[in-house]
Amino acid sequence: MTHRSWMRSQGFTTEVFDGRPVIGIATTWSELAPCNVHLHRVAESVKRGVWQAGGFPLEFPTMALGETLLRPTAMLYRNLLAMEAEELFRANPLDGVVLLSGCDKTTPGLLMAAASVDLPAIMVTGGPKLNGKYQGTDVGSGTAVWRWEEDLVAGRMTQEECFFAEGCMSRSDGHCMTMGTASTMASAAEALGMQLPYSAAWPAVDSRRYETAQRAGQVIVDLVNSDLTPSKIMTREAFENAIRVNAAIGGSTNAAIHLLAIAGRLGVPLSLDDFDALAADVPTLVNLQPSGQYLMEDFCYAGGLPAVMRELGGLLHGDAITVTGRTVAENVAEAPCWNRDVIHAMDAPLQPAGTGTAVLRGNLAPHGAVIKQSAASPHLLKHRGPALVFDSPEAYHAVVADPDLDADENTVLIIRYCGPKGYPGMPEVANVPLPKKLLNRGVRDMVRICDGRMSGTAYGTVVLHVSPEAAAGGALALVRTGDWITLDVPSRALTLEVPDDELARRRAEWTAPPPAAARGWTRLYTDHVLQADTGADLDFLIGASGHEVGRDSH
Ligand code: FES
Repeated sequence: MTHRSWMRSQGFTTEVFDGRPVIGIATTWSELAPCNVHLHRVAESVKRGVWQAGGFPLEFPTMALGETLLRPTAMLYRNLLAMEAEELFRANPLDGVVLLSGCDKTTPGLLMAAASVDLPAIMVTGGPKLNGKYQGTDVGSGTAVWRWEEDLVAGRMTQEECFFAEGCMSRSDGHCMTMGTASTMASAAEALGMQLPYSAAWPAVDSRRYETAQRAGQVIVDLVNSDLTPSKIMTREAFENAIRVNAAIGGSTNAAIHLLAIAGRLGVPLSLDDFDALAADVPTLVNLQPSGQYLMEDFCYAGGLPAVMRELGGLLHGDAITVTGRTVAENVAEAPCWNRDVIHAMDAPLQPAGTGTAVLRGNLAPHGAVIKQSAASPHLLKHRGPALVFDSPEAYHAVVADPDLDADENTVLIIRYCGPKGYPGMPEVANVPLPKKLLNRGVRDMVRICDGRMSGTAYGTVVLHVSPEAAAGGALALVRTGDWITLDVPSRALTLEVPDDELARRRAEWTAPPPAAARGWTRLYTDHVLQADTGADLDFLIGASGHEVGRDSH
């Protein structure tokens, strides 16, 4: 009676308590997360579907992580969202959950939670914005910002023009419409089998986004009835599919961190090296910014992810089961491609196999580092140059316009103390703009090395996720300005040309920075966060506890 009576204050009739599945709709809606601001309306469509299928839908809020406003970085809170959602899924009397996400961290955060609870779950991402339109050309969120920022610094664009352009770029609901991290993770969720086919690409304002949401509401009731849980869908084979799809779409380097973290919750063995090895024979098929030309709206009209997955054919595990109750191969068997300039065929790819995310190793990154080759300049993929070292992005920004900065196009910029513990939260700061004096000379790229991340919408020859990070005592902390560094992407090598005995001497002099915070979440985070090469989850959140309250199934 207590349960029913209090719920009836919302005006429900007694039939909803007849034993039908109770479906939680976890929404990351917030006006502080503009990419997710329409999820309230998406939830209404999900509810329709749940009612239609005989379930009882209940919407509830989880942390909304907006990439653009949160300080110091939304990544600091991905694990907090995952932890909060996990506890809500388990503590409430739910039979299944629909995960409403959009902006970068909300998709992996909710998938991590669903993985650890292992209730039947389906994801509905909010969809990308419509293409930005500025002065007769398409402009991509994020990607255009980096370009305009450089143009503003170099005097090619006025501040007034920037104000006007930014409105043209963000003209509808939805997440970034480049193949940035949000589009990448929406695609990963679809490739993993956790959201319905075509879900990743419907624009946020497209009626089919809402139709798909309604369908997801129906499907979650089926998933509950058939007990098809995330651990049965997100298998090693599903992750291999997601990694290969990520290579084919030119997806964000952030996919490596997030997929490793999700796999860690499920106990699926997955390593950073899998991202290089599995992508080795996958060409880039999708011609989207930042690696290519088009935007997510074009991708949708060209056939979306099913067209890509059909094209990949035997490179995917076609028998992997998905939330539809059907296999990947069944889902995409008839998927058409309507535009071969947007989604290339395997025999005429945008970029050849092996040009996706590469995993580098060497004395500068013994546990690995990554580089997105398709966003890099080919002439810099083999490069040797002297280091110019900065202990924070702010220290670099303070001198970026200095005409006397001792840097040229051969310089290797080191931006460090930006890893999970260091900043903290591993912000997207690695693609720092080039020194103004080099921009003015027409230099458009140079090698940058960082233990932080790069926005999925960004481009440049940037070595990321260096592990271990400087704040954890990684070799990056020992680099000094003037040291020579060799980047050899074809050989997957990143080498600091300093003898071991000298590095040992420098290590003896090195002292770890103090914790970033004395208390609170940030202290908990920095005390327990793992390194990027394993997904930057908290050490005590690895694994699953199932959905029984007070029990630990692992
Ligand atoms: Fe939200 Fe890019 S800022 S997806």
